Amino acid sequence: METFIKNKQLPVEGSENNRRTFLKKGVLLGTLTGVTGLGLVTACKEEGEPEVSPPEDLMREHGVLSRILLIYDTCKLHLANNEQFDMAILKNSAEIIRTFIGDYHEKLEEDFLFPRFVNANQLVPLVQTLYIQHSTGKKITGQILQLVTPVSLKNAEDTQKLIRLLHDFNRMYHPHKAWEDTILFPALRKIVSKNEYFALGEEFEDREHEFFGENGFGTIVEKVANIEKQLGIYELSEFTPQL
Ligand SMILES: [Fe+2]
Ligand SMILES: [Fe+2]
Repeated sequence: METFIKNKQLPVEGSENNRRTFLKKGVLLGTLTGVTGLGLVTACKEEGEPEVSPPEDLMREHGVLSRILLIYDTCKLHLANNEQFDMAILKNSAEIIRTFIGDYHEKLEEDFLFPRFVNANQLVPLVQTLYIQHSTGKKITGQILQLVTPVSLKNAEDTQKLIRLLHDFNRMYHPHKAWEDTILFPALRKIVSKNEYFALGEEFEDREHEFFGENGFGTIVEKVANIEKQLGIYELSEFTPQL
């Protein structure tokens, strides 16, 4: 944990990055004039730009994660029942987990949230567990990606291994994201100033565009929807039980 903290660059107020963000959105001006951060961010919002707070941003990314967990569950069932499906579905899903969740979403949490909680001495054991789970998640994804080839799946042992990996991944990430949504994210507002809170939202948005282009989130959701269509689980209404 200590090594993790030392190796992380804490984006604190006054750093070049945040200063740029504050100036860009006028939050600093808000402090000087006494206008609330919320009002000012709204007033300075550029045309067509979404107003997304840091927890809302992270939670909608958890929505993408949830949809992939459902894809994993469906694929796991097909594997267990020896039902044929296109292995590219699993490969493409694991790639989204690797890039969008691992390299992007979890990096945001590790760069911008976890160090703030550690520095504030709040929820440290939870942060430590979440951090370890990110690392375990990446290892599982690496192993899934090695196994999702038509050749390896002719081997019954590899199929069982893949079923186990999908199970382990889902079992860990359901509580992982639930704890972040209900405990960690709601506590963020209590440990950062209002200005820092809104500046973080802008920082997240900048990173999203940097990683995935202007319609970053929309593009990822579309990719997931296409995978769901291939797998036959896209229609939300089909999940409603007949009573
Ligand atoms: Fe996380
Ligand atoms: Fe998360």
